[in-house]
Amino acid sequence: MNLTYDVISPEEIECCREICNELMVFQKSKAHITPELFDDMSFETRLVPSVEKAEKNYIVVVKDEEEIIGYVYSNISRKEAYDNDFATFFDLSSVSGEFVGCLSQFYIKDGYRQYGVGSKLFDMSMEWLRNEKDVQDHFIFVSNGNQNALDFYQRKGFFISHDILDGFITVLRNNKTAV
Ligand SMILES: CC(C)(COP(=O)(O)OP(=O)(O)OC[C@H]1O[C@@H](n2cnc3c(N)ncnc32)[C@H](O)[C@@H]1OP(=O)(O)O)[C@@H](O)C(=O)NCCC(=O)NCCS
Repeated sequence: MNLTYDVISPEEIECCREICNELMVFQKSKAHITPELFDDMSFETRLVPSVEKAEKNYIVVVKDEEEIIGYVYSNISRKEAYDNDFATFFDLSSVSGEFVGCLSQFYIKDGYRQYGVGSKLFDMSMEWLRNEKDVQDHFIFVSNGNQNALDFYQRKGFFISHDILDGFITVLRNNKTAV
């Protein structure tokens, strides 16, 4: 393994097409509550619009030689972005500021997990999010059936807030003033 970690710009996200689509397939394979919702989720419908709409984006890709084997995508958005046709992700009044941070997409290919790659990407993302002085609230949205991810984030200091969409998604949060 010869891993490199590259922060990429929004203009370079095309390189994440394949791995983002792999994350959607993975999430569908784990889900037992409305897995069909993933049928419309892809690089085109999830990553591209999210990057375009967010105020700020932070994307890190991990390569083994030339192959992308993992990525993490975090962003800063206006809290109103989380009250939309798909869902109300959290009670907007529970967020003091105008903006929230979100660790939005995270995937390490099978075979590269359990080596600390995820922890490194998580730490890089949290450092980026914490540097945003006006943002007090950080969210992660985990789709149902992914207990491993829920455990991982809780060990990293996030806590379960509530479920939405009849349990399709579990909302985790981490108010940085509380850590
Ligand atoms: C969740 C995910 C990103 C974590 O990435 P990862 O690279 O496996 O994470 P790490 O290796 O840093 O940590 C995983 C565990 O391995 C352990 N570990 C890390 N390095 C290790 C090593 N060298 N030897 C043995 N164990 C090790 C860590 O202690 C950690 O244990 P813990 O979970 O009990 O704390 C990864 O499992 C993944 O991509 N899953 C599929 C997609 C997914 O679920 N994404 C999240 C969507 S919300």
